[in-house]
Amino acid sequence: MNNQAIGIFDSGFGGLTVLKELRKVLPNEDLIYFGDTARIPYGTKSKETIIKYSKQNIRFLMRHHVKAIVVACNTASALAVPVVESMFDIPLIGVIEPGAKGAVRESKSGKIGVIGTTGTVRSGAYQDAIARLRPESMIESTPCPLFVQIVEEGWQDTEIARLTAEKYLEDIKRAKIDAMVMGCTHYPILENTLRKVMGEQVTLVNPARETALAVKSVLESEGMLSDRDNEAEYRFYVSDDPDKFRETGSQIVSVPMTMIRKISIENY
Ligand code: DGL
Repeated sequence: MNNQAIGIFDSGFGGLTVLKELRKVLPNEDLIYFGDTARIPYGTKSKETIIKYSKQNIRFLMRHHVKAIVVACNTASALAVPVVESMFDIPLIGVIEPGAKGAVRESKSGKIGVIGTTGTVRSGAYQDAIARLRPESMIESTPCPLFVQIVEEGWQDTEIARLTAEKYLEDIKRAKIDAMVMGCTHYPILENTLRKVMGEQVTLVNPARETALAVKSVLESEGMLSDRDNEAEYRFYVSDDPDKFRETGSQIVSVPMTMIRKISIENY
């Protein structure tokens, strides 16, 4: 048993899609969220930069004595987790393995699409994780970098979003996949548009849900679940304007964002 909080980080508010699922699966756990809003996007940056940022984010969360950290960013999970996980003595749970597991489970044909940031898709992390689980699968992947900006603008259900998705997803549609991983924490916010473009026959896989289940299973096996039955506490930190984060974040997840502070991540 361990009643310390779980830490979560992402480049911005996209990781709140993971926090939302964590709350459902682990309602008793306190959560501390860090959104690196001053340095977003991560998806277009080099591996070295993402490793540096991820180490700083982890150090910041560890100052708050978290018992485990959820890397709620696909880009950081793909580029940094394999390099940094052995450097810290608490569990680090990324979104790639859980997302790949969900895709393999949902696909009947083994033809699977993966969309994500340029960094995530180029890293091959999802492609490798899916192939490990199901070697005969056929994977079609495409980076969709503009989706992050579209979501940041709140344009997820507009004609601009639909036309952008039509363009990015041309090849994936031709590949006749039956499951597609939304391999960026911003993309589940675009789910309605992605569904319209891909059609009902394609299952959209949100790695957030699988990740929350993976966190539960890690905490269970390590004997680290909280045994409290009072209401969980949620704290938020950002590296830029807390008001913007609160405004957009409250549309994604309905938790009171009263405890939100700006910090200088470069100090960690
Ligand atoms: N949250 C990032 C991810 O899941 C996407 C946004 C960014 O590029 O920073 O990869």
